[in-house]
Amino acid sequence: MRMLTISALGLPALLLAACSAEQEPETEAQAINLHAMMKDGINPDALALWDISNAAIDDRGGIDASAMNDESWAALAEKARRLAADASELADAEAIMAAPPGVMIEEEDEPGASSAADVQGFIDADLEDFKGMAQALAVHTGDLAAAAEAQDAERAGLLVSQLDAVCESCHLKYWYPQDELPPGYPHPDEILGRD
Ligand code: HEC
Repeated sequence: MRMLTISALGLPALLLAACSAEQEPETEAQAINLHAMMKDGINPDALALWDISNAAIDDRGGIDASAMNDESWAALAEKARRLAADASELADAEAIMAAPPGVMIEEEDEPGASSAADVQGFIDADLEDFKGMAQALAVHTGDLAAAAEAQDAERAGLLVSQLDAVCESCHLKYWYPQDELPPGYPHPDEILGRD
C-alpha cells in the first residue's frame, strides 16, 4: 500500500481519550499522506502514461492510432485507472496530511517555495475545493481509461493533452499559490466547473 494512515487526532488526543475512561475517541479520521501519494503513486503513473502517449503522438498533439496496439492501449488504460483510483481516494478523504512530520516536499528548500506546513495551511483553508479538484482528476482519468479501453484515439488524445492542466490547477492553488498561472492554463475555478 502506498499510503500511510495516521490518526488525525494525534497522540495527545489519544492519551486524553485513554485517560477519560472507556469512551472511544469519536471518529478516527484517516488522513491520507498526500506527499507519498504524489511522489510514489500519481506522479510515476502520470509519467508512465505520458511515455505511452508521447510515443504515439501525432502532428496535432493527439494520439496516432496506427502507432498504438492492444498492449499499449491496455497499458494506457491501466495507468489512467490507477490515477483515477488514487484521485478518488483523495476526493473521498476525511483528512489530508500534506507530508509526514520532518519530510521535505519538492523544492521546499528553494527561496520563496512553499513548505509542507504552508501546503497543509492551504489545504486546511479550503479542503472542499481540494477534494473537488481531486474529483476532477478522478473524472478526467476515468474518462481517459474508458477512451483507452475503447481504443478511441481521438478522445484519448484530447484527454491526455488536457491532463497536465488538471494537475497544475491544483498545484497552483494548493502548492504554489504565490506563482502566476502559466499562459494557456485554465483557472482553478474552471476545473471546478465555476467559470
Ligand atoms: C487535488 C490537488 C492535486 C492534484 C489534482 C494533483 N496534485 Fe500533485 N500535488 C498536490 C499538492 C498540494 C502537492 C504539494 C505536496 C507535496 O509536494 O508533496 C503536490 C505535489 C506533487 C509533486 C511533488 C511531490 C514531492 O516530491 O514533493 C508532484 C511530482 C506532483 N504533485 C505531480 C502531480 C501530477 C503529475 C498530477 C496530475 C496527474 C498531480 N500532481 C495532481 C496536489 C495535487
